[in-house]
Amino acid sequence: MPVKHKTPFELIIPECEGDLLQIQDLHFAYPDGHQALRGINLSICEGEKIALVGPNGAGKSTLMLHLNGILGEDTPITIAGLKLEKGNLPLIRALVGLVFQNPDDQLFSPTVFEDVAFGPLHMGLPEEEVRLRVEEALAAVGMDNFGSRLSHHLSMGQKKRISIATVLAMHPQILVLDEPTAGLDPRARRSLINFLRDLPITMLVSTHDLRMVADLFPRMVIMDEGKIVADGQTQLLLKDEDLLLAHGLESLS
Ligand SMILES: Nc1ncnc2c1ncn2[C@@H]1O[C@H](COP(=O)(O)OP(=O)(O)OP(=O)(O)O)[C@@H](O)[C@H]1O
Ligand SMILES: [Mg+2]
Repeated sequence: MPVKHKTPFELIIPECEGDLLQIQDLHFAYPDGHQALRGINLSICEGEKIALVGPNGAGKSTLMLHLNGILGEDTPITIAGLKLEKGNLPLIRALVGLVFQNPDDQLFSPTVFEDVAFGPLHMGLPEEEVRLRVEEALAAVGMDNFGSRLSHHLSMGQKKRISIATVLAMHPQILVLDEPTAGLDPRARRSLINFLRDLPITMLVSTHDLRMVADLFPRMVIMDEGKIVADGQTQLLLKDEDLLLAHGLESLS
């Protein structure tokens, strides 16, 4: 059991009209019976950049896999006014770009170009537009000249960057990244952080990289044991050493 925070945590959720994403009391158990999500409530406004943190096994990836319907059926999730249900999945998947924790789950085509082109082609875009989107997405992750390389022969960090490009090429409205800096070298990490900072779209990013959180995300959500245990301004939460300690996070100071 995690240690309970000694005072009820002040919620500082920004006010917004027309929430872009809303989750109301989401529960989920894996087929083996493991209860991975226990009543998640979360609203995200357009343009917000939010970090999702918490110890291994907290349920971060499980939550993210719900956001475009990979896990769960008819879940209590609404995205851009659309209820997340079977009939809406194609639309929702065009809105929510999800990058998996493990790039081997994302890359399945022989070449990098084909992997990044897959989504736009699937959207029925003309060939020239697809080519432009691939070039733009590869440039965005600093992998301009990798189009003809074999995806499965890349290093882990390179695969991670190509995975992000596959989703950027879809021009999503919400970017959901599961541990994007894991396995990146310092230069690639820094360029990804700068890129995400300049990207003017809503994003939810799970990470163990609290320095990146401090640097990039005004709002931080802490999960532990399938629940959200704090949700508020990053600069305030990062100062609360008891809270961080109680949920397996290390203070930056
Ligand atoms: N396919 C599965 N079947 C059963 N249990 C699972 C499955 N995948 C994950 N779990 C369990 O669900 C819980 C949440 O896992 P999840 O991968 O969402 O955690 P996480 O917060 O992303 O952790 P990490 O920081 O290690 O990536 C864990 O206890 C995990 O063991
Ligand atoms: Mg995870």
